[in-house]
Amino acid sequence: MTQDEMKIAAAEAAMKYVEPGMIVGVGTGSTANHFIDALATMKHDIEGTVASSIATEERLKSHGIRVMELNNAGQLSIYIDGADESDHHLNLIKGGGGALTREKIVAGASDKFICIADDTKLVDVMGKFPLPVEVIPMAQSFVAREIVKMGGIPILREGFTTDNGNIIIDVKGLEILEPVKMEDEFNKIAGVVTVGLFARRPADVLILGTAKGAKVLT
Ligand code: A5P
Repeated sequence: MTQDEMKIAAAEAAMKYVEPGMIVGVGTGSTANHFIDALATMKHDIEGTVASSIATEERLKSHGIRVMELNNAGQLSIYIDGADESDHHLNLIKGGGGALTREKIVAGASDKFICIADDTKLVDVMGKFPLPVEVIPMAQSFVAREIVKMGGIPILREGFTTDNGNIIIDVKGLEILEPVKMEDEFNKIAGVVTVGLFARRPADVLILGTAKGAKVLT
């Protein structure tokens, strides 16, 4: 099975969590895109969706799936999204696609967060995947210096602007042994909009696509 086929297996397995009448939060990335394709089969049964990025909104609409503003949707039943890394406690690194801020908002506004990923994403200790941080442009140099003090190597994502008009600094060289503590440390730096660590609000369920099909971790 290819990595993409494993992503499809995870995305399709997430469909069993979608119930008629729900408003579904939808994430961003290649795995979330497979979920959107599967969700199209239920587009007349759900009340609607809330998108975590402009790209996701466009893909949902291209399938004729109703997209709602989060401010009009209230608390969501579920949020379904991919990840760049997950540890065994379902703490996540997200933001490889740069949508981390809206993803964190929609995840926070959802009762249940179901993460879908191929099994290469599950690690013992997170940090091999560079940790994305969304930053207000004028704070770039200051935030970079603070990251160095924390032991990280800050790398500007060249030529990239988020949906919110900000920059992304990817942080290499971290060994994330205490994800909640590290999330809080990043959040204290002035100019940081969002860090791509999802530890205060981890996933509730991780569906991993494996060579043998989908495997569920809780
Ligand atoms: C988007 O900003 C990310 O958080 C994605 O969820 C993450 O990068 C996973 O992407 P893939 O599903 O493409 O691996």
